[in-house]
Amino acid sequence: MKSNHSYLILAFLIIPILSGCAKGNTSLHPDFKISKQELTDVVRSLPDGIRNNILKKPQCFLEFMERILREDPAYTVLVDKSHSLTKTYIPKDLININDYGIPVTKKNLKLRSIVIPDLKAMEEAANLRGIKLTIGSSYRSYTYQNRLYSHYVKTEGREKADRESARPGHSQHQLGTTIDFYPIEDNFIETKQGTWLSENAWKYGFSLSYPPNAETITGYKYEPWHYRYVGRDVAYIIKRYFLGQQEIFLQFFNTHKKFFMERIIS
Ligand code: DAL
Ligand code: ZN
Repeated sequence: MKSNHSYLILAFLIIPILSGCAKGNTSLHPDFKISKQELTDVVRSLPDGIRNNILKKPQCFLEFMERILREDPAYTVLVDKSHSLTKTYIPKDLININDYGIPVTKKNLKLRSIVIPDLKAMEEAANLRGIKLTIGSSYRSYTYQNRLYSHYVKTEGREKADRESARPGHSQHQLGTTIDFYPIEDNFIETKQGTWLSENAWKYGFSLSYPPNAETITGYKYEPWHYRYVGRDVAYIIKRYFLGQQEIFLQFFNTHKKFFMERIIS
């Protein structure tokens, strides 16, 4: 006669198989066609800290992914050392920032209109804390970036220029969603503006593009003043799951966009 103990072991082996919960096939969300095993496989090559964040709270991660997949692709387009915009790309909805009462260092600075509501909200929130945010640089055309990059090459040499300035077509500034806050200086993080932005910008959809100690990932030195507007959902996922590494999120998202589309949207 089998002991109670053996029945118990048998039950542990059979019940998960019958209920479709065998290891790896666990469903993660009733609305999405993605198993725990599939998610585990797709995040396998991410750094440990990021992978663990996702696998610890996968439902919330997938819900944010669903929102991001439905949003304006401009928030997630990859523009870096290996991905460029064409020479002729000019955003269609550029507006003068000065017209919206946001402090600027030059009257003709432009941004895409989709950035303005959150930028204004962020500026107001900073103001309430006695902090004045000023924009030192924003949209740059291909031609302007070409001039800027050539200037750095001439004055500093190509090797140094490549750590600080994007080649034409490779600058996030051409997207019209990227801002350099004033003053554009290495010690910006020690200013009231720099500290406030590093703690609060994500709440308004802004993400630091070139964080400290990330040159091997981004290809650029730390730029505490350079923020890209990616919308509140993307900014949240970068902060909460991707340890503030915008480049890693954008590479991951663009590599696996089709995978998530098929399982989450369709
Ligand atoms: N300074 C950044 C990398 C740019 O030129 O876009
Ligand atoms: Zn910049």
